[in-house]
Amino acid sequence: MKVGYVQTSPIFGEKHKNFEQVYKFIGKTKADLIILPELFATGYTFISKNEAIALSEKKDGDTSQFLIELARKTGAIVVAGFAEKDGDHIYNSSLIVSDDEVVGIYRKIHLYYKEKLWFSSGNKPLKTYDLKGVKIGIMICFDWFFPETIRSLALLGADIIAHPANLVLPYCQRAMTNHCLVNRVFAVTSNRIGNEVRGEDNFTFTGGSQITSFNGDVLSSAPPDKVYVDFVEIDVTHARNKNINKYNNIIEDRRTEFYFLK
Ligand code: ACM
Repeated sequence: MKVGYVQTSPIFGEKHKNFEQVYKFIGKTKADLIILPELFATGYTFISKNEAIALSEKKDGDTSQFLIELARKTGAIVVAGFAEKDGDHIYNSSLIVSDDEVVGIYRKIHLYYKEKLWFSSGNKPLKTYDLKGVKIGIMICFDWFFPETIRSLALLGADIIAHPANLVLPYCQRAMTNHCLVNRVFAVTSNRIGNEVRGEDNFTFTGGSQITSFNGDVLSSAPPDKVYVDFVEIDVTHARNKNINKYNNIIEDRRTEFYFLK
């Protein structure tokens, strides 16, 4: 399957310009799976809860309409971050869209820094989406810091992890090589670039979007400071074989009776 990412440079609060940016870079590309960054349409650095509420949307808002159109044009399953409004709560979420409809929403469970001031943390279990013969798991940015996230998705049978991100720390890209290796899953980390100086905060996003293979190889690595698009062909059946030799299976060999999870 052909999987890839669009590494954008969102303009804070300018949803339609940010949609245009994605269209411009995707061009006439056809693919099977496209990942866009976390909060790709709104920008990241909110300065108040009211501002985050004002930019949030229900699951049938402009962002999901845009993603449905993108899925239609490219033929791809699309996973992308958005600020989700649901009743009195807003979540840092990702939509997964395929064949003219929203098939699911993942709400980020590990909120980073001031996200805790605006967003409610995810309130739904991790799950995988079985689409077009592939099992896709979703996590958002800082979720990577908790190895339980990818492990849970791997235990649920994920072949590939869709990972919209707005990374500001320098560690994720190299950590993903290990996370993918020890879980034998593929991952597409779609990060953004640029700088947002808002309120007391000054974030420089680290780019370096990455497609990581089931064996820890880096199949695609974007520059730290340029908008960038890339796609690679992967064979997801590799992720279904958890044997690393005749005697070791990385799932069956776990000794859960000796682990401390609390
Ligand atoms: C992050 O989770 N956006 C750093």
